[in-house]
Amino acid sequence: MARLDVKIKDLCLKNPVMTASGTFGYGLEFQDFVPLDGIGGIIVKGTTLKPRQGNDYPRMAETPQGMLNCVGLQNKGVDYFAEHIYPQLKDIDTNWIVNVSGSSPEDYAECAARIAQLEKVPAIELNISCPNVHDGGMAFGVTCAGAESVVKAVRERYHKTLIVKLSPNVTDITEIARAVEAAGADSVSLINTLMGTAIDIEKRRRVLSIGTGGLSGPCVKPVALRMVYQVARAVKIPVIGLGGISSATDALEFLMAGATAIEIGTANFLDPAVTIKVRDGINEWLDRHGVDSVQEIIGCVE
Ligand SMILES: Cc1cc2nc3c(=O)[nH]c(=O)nc-3n(C[C@H](O)[C@H](O)[C@H](O)COP(=O)(O)O)c2cc1C
Repeated sequence: MARLDVKIKDLCLKNPVMTASGTFGYGLEFQDFVPLDGIGGIIVKGTTLKPRQGNDYPRMAETPQGMLNCVGLQNKGVDYFAEHIYPQLKDIDTNWIVNVSGSSPEDYAECAARIAQLEKVPAIELNISCPNVHDGGMAFGVTCAGAESVVKAVRERYHKTLIVKLSPNVTDITEIARAVEAAGADSVSLINTLMGTAIDIEKRRRVLSIGTGGLSGPCVKPVALRMVYQVARAVKIPVIGLGGISSATDALEFLMAGATAIEIGTANFLDPAVTIKVRDGINEWLDRHGVDSVQEIIGCVE
């Protein structure tokens, strides 16, 4: 059995496989199907300072090799998480990571500060692709200045491991990655969903309630892999790769491209035990090739 453990700053993962936010609930929903303590880290659904309703239905559409969603960060807020969900998670032996969203830098920072109080949450992942209401709907994640403003505000009040999740809906993702590294991020994760749309030709209108949604699943993998490869060479902090991963082969591609760990999203909807299968498949590949530790293959592709 090869060594599968990896480190993202102070976050020690027993294996490099994590779940992607919004696709694995709070983990508890999946515990009858998959041993949660076998997963390296569980990134729980997007959490905001105040509760959010999310968008109207329909907010999902299936696409060839993927899906579109515009759930819109439906959640009951950080205090509900701390009071009602966290007590159910804290004794399960994995890394619980909260995905944090907000409408302003102060919002993010306050949410992060409240999560910092939770002993068994060693890291947060900042989702900087959600709308910036201060700036009339611009997303924080698509400009260096916007991304920096959030990371700096959070860094002042959050001192555990800080992962920043990048938007792929930009011209050059390496610029944003460098900006958040300079602002104090400990790691970057990428990619979030790609903007897309779908049209119902019988109704002659767009399928999703707000017109557009985020594309995810196997169809986004080549784009995600290209971006992970580029970002891993542009920053010194560890990169977490995701986007379309559904097999150990996919995961190994991201690790070889330069990702220290990976996240699995949409594939959980098709196979709730996919994380464990990917973990075991990585181990099997390492053993078959006589590689002692997963760390030896990270970024091995020139
Ligand atoms: C239904 C759904 C909800 C999501 N919610 C969030 C979220 O709250 N925060 C976030 O950062 N990403 C969210 N994502 C994006 C995923 O975490 C992931 O970045 C994306 O789906 C690409 O990975 P995949 O192709 O493996 O699904 C969501 C994705 C889906 C499909």
